[in-house]
Amino acid sequence: MPHQPKLAAGNWKMNGLSADLAEVSRLIGNHPAPGCEILLCPPATLLSRMSERVAGTPIVTGGQDCHAADSGAHTGDISARMLADAGAGYVILGHSERRTDHGETDDMVRAKARAALEAGLKVIICLGETLAEREAGNTLDVIGGQLAGSVPGDLSGETLVIAYEPVWAIGTGKVPTTAQIGEVHDFIRARLEERFGAEAGRSVRILYGGSVKPDNAAGIFAVANVDGALVGGASLKAADFSPIIAALEASA
Ligand code: PGA
Repeated sequence: MPHQPKLAAGNWKMNGLSADLAEVSRLIGNHPAPGCEILLCPPATLLSRMSERVAGTPIVTGGQDCHAADSGAHTGDISARMLADAGAGYVILGHSERRTDHGETDDMVRAKARAALEAGLKVIICLGETLAEREAGNTLDVIGGQLAGSVPGDLSGETLVIAYEPVWAIGTGKVPTTAQIGEVHDFIRARLEERFGAEAGRSVRILYGGSVKPDNAAGIFAVANVDGALVGGASLKAADFSPIIAALEASA
């Protein structure tokens, strides 16, 4: 199994208009030869244009969700093949905002992941506990359940990425301690190795997500089994995302 590069992934969520593509040009200029993989997941409306802009650079693009079906009568939805056709190399699946706002279950996320893999996309599957679940001492049970339910059986370290995103840390400025991040990442690693074998389980990248900022990134990247970050708010501006990418490069 080839070694996978660390991954700095930006999730623009429902942010970004045409004018914001200038940020992508800045990012390209800041990282002509990055020491890690850089991924930007814009809203679907910008995906084609962003993909054209990064063509020929080391930066890749991804979608933020896809439908489990290949095509059909699903008004407002986008299939994995459509994302790939628009230039995406990745898709984020099972983000907590999708799970909460759209009622996505582990079964749905797993079906979407299968469709994405079939369309040739790499998948980032998000897992995370709520504050109530953490306070009740259920964090590892919740993560273990989501991992077992959301991740399809045909795993490969090249095509699967896991993002640990505590729901209470997303967009709140609250970040778990490095010990808390380490505990969950070690647990995910052990579960992946158990289920898929040591070699495949070790090659899956495990990202941390939730209020990653330039000033806390280096500390997070120093934690064992943290192979990168899924960054929301701080990925919108190159001035914020670039120092996070630099911190990841320095940790490699
Ligand atoms: P945040 O979002 O960095 O704005 O907290 C992270 C995410 O939801 O992926």
